[in-house]
Amino acid sequence: MPDIRLAVPSDLPAVAALIARLNAAPADQSLHCAARTAAALRATLSNPEDFPGGWHRSFAVATDANGGLLAVFGSQFDPEGTLGWLWGPWCAADALWATVAPALLRTLLACLPRSVHRIDAFLHVENRQGLRFLQANGFSPGPPTLLYVADRTGWTLPGKTTLLPALRPAHEVAFARLHADIFPVHGSTPAQLLLDGRDDEHAIFAAVDGLRLLGSVCVSVNHAPLEGFVDYLAVRSTARGHGIGSKLLQTALHWAFETRRLPQTALCVTQWRTDARRLYEKAGFSLQATGVAVRRLLQ
Ligand SMILES: CC(C)(COP(=O)(O)OP(=O)(O)OC[C@H]1O[C@@H](n2cnc3c(N)ncnc32)[C@H](O)[C@@H]1OP(=O)(O)O)[C@@H](O)C(=O)NCCC(=O)NCCS
Repeated sequence: MPDIRLAVPSDLPAVAALIARLNAAPADQSLHCAARTAAALRATLSNPEDFPGGWHRSFAVATDANGGLLAVFGSQFDPEGTLGWLWGPWCAADALWATVAPALLRTLLACLPRSVHRIDAFLHVENRQGLRFLQANGFSPGPPTLLYVADRTGWTLPGKTTLLPALRPAHEVAFARLHADIFPVHGSTPAQLLLDGRDDEHAIFAAVDGLRLLGSVCVSVNHAPLEGFVDYLAVRSTARGHGIGSKLLQTALHWAFETRRLPQTALCVTQWRTDARRLYEKAGFSLQATGVAVRRLLQ
């Protein structure tokens, strides 16, 4: 049986090399890890903004008798330490899924802060071994989810588009109601967390008609890779088809590309939301990958 242990800082080059090699293939891909090369992975894992406590504290590794790296499984947390995102698992050989992957998961779960109550993984739809493994270990799958990306190069605010303002206190209750109406409770960040989380890196924009909220969009900064992330675009059902969704999306893109000067903007959309997909494609987003999000609640 390989040696299973928490990572140590000196594992960094081998861990980065193994992830870069395996994550290049859809059949092994974990979409929470977007860095492409070993150098980019070393930079991401060493970045205190992404891994404030040190990446090695939340990564488990399996090594052979010569110390060679066989498998890696890691996690990342939100700043409050309540939600976790899994990186991997990555196994260098098929035989490792049955014995080594479960041991890595146990090691990882044992070192999670007690405050973490939910962990999510997001694997490429072709990563069947990974999805099978996670489902066999208590993770519930969501519907297929499309990852779309738009580049700053080539983006300009369409002529005549008026930018929409940030959500004001008077519309916060309506925002929470719209959010609850449109996005499933299971799987969505609660509205209050989104409202409380607004800062330099998290914005909410709104389309209003007097005191009525017609629609809203959340946009934030991701650090690995550095990009904008658009989330929870919603237009009240009675106000759809008049260009409000498009204006909200362009306002979010303007914030990401012009205000924050981010090189790209990403978003995830469930496969069945065809209206939204059309809107994103018209705005210049293109499909990067299709994934399946899986979730396990802890405690
Ligand atoms: C997706 C969503 C935000 C779109 O909002 P919207 O305000 O209807 O979007 P728009 O009006 O900008 O665009 C929708 C359509 O109206 C058309 N349209 C835009 N301006 C128009 C106008 N002035 N008059 C008539 N039609 C117009 C657009 O061309 C587009 O048509 P198409 O889809 O055939 O290309 C909305 O349907 C929604 O809230 N859906 C549920 C939540 C959701 O799926 N969110 C995405 C989660 S990832």
